[in-house]
Amino acid sequence: MKTAVYPGSFDPVTLGHLDIIERSSRIVDELVVGVLNNSSKNPLFSMEERVNMLKEVTSHLSNVRIESFDGLLVDFAVRCHANVVVRGLRAITDFEYELQMSQTNRIMCPKLDTIFLTTDLKYAYLSSSIVREMAHYGGDISAFVPAAIIERVLEKFI
Ligand code: COA
Repeated sequence: MKTAVYPGSFDPVTLGHLDIIERSSRIVDELVVGVLNNSSKNPLFSMEERVNMLKEVTSHLSNVRIESFDGLLVDFAVRCHANVVVRGLRAITDFEYELQMSQTNRIMCPKLDTIFLTTDLKYAYLSSSIVREMAHYGGDISAFVPAAIIERVLEKFI
């Protein structure tokens, strides 16, 4: 049984994240999307909101579950019995940080490998902060986030 974790802040989940979730769920037996309670970020959405949005937009994927976590990714991966971490690479600028993270994780947990999926070109520019900024100024975010969560993002800025 191959279990992978896909970690991130998902504040909020974007179509780019969903693309990575859908594609990686076809590669592994089980995918655990790990929503990080990141103390260095001040999230727009509570942990419960981020988890619920992810559950809703991945409900069509039977081998995907959503969990929250604190602390080190390696500890979360061990708790999930995962031996693979999935990360998306959007552009070359992501690479240095991702390389450092995957190498550090492997030193801490040698059985844990990271696989990288190149983000669909359609979403190469996308990030959660772009979504938040667009919504803040009342922009159309339908090309950036799943339809089911558009209203919830816009409501945050009313
Ligand atoms: N599509 C769209 N946006 C994407 C994306 C994709 N495929 N992949 C990443 N992004 C965006 C995110 O939306 C986020 O945007 P924002 O900064 O504007 O909010 C940004 O890229 C950063 O990605 P994200 O995955 O949310 O968080 P991160 O890179 O800050 O953290 C963790 C990644 C969770 C894996 C890392 O912080 C971690 O492991 N933390 C736990 C502590 C730990 O173990 N630390 C040691 C690591 S060596």
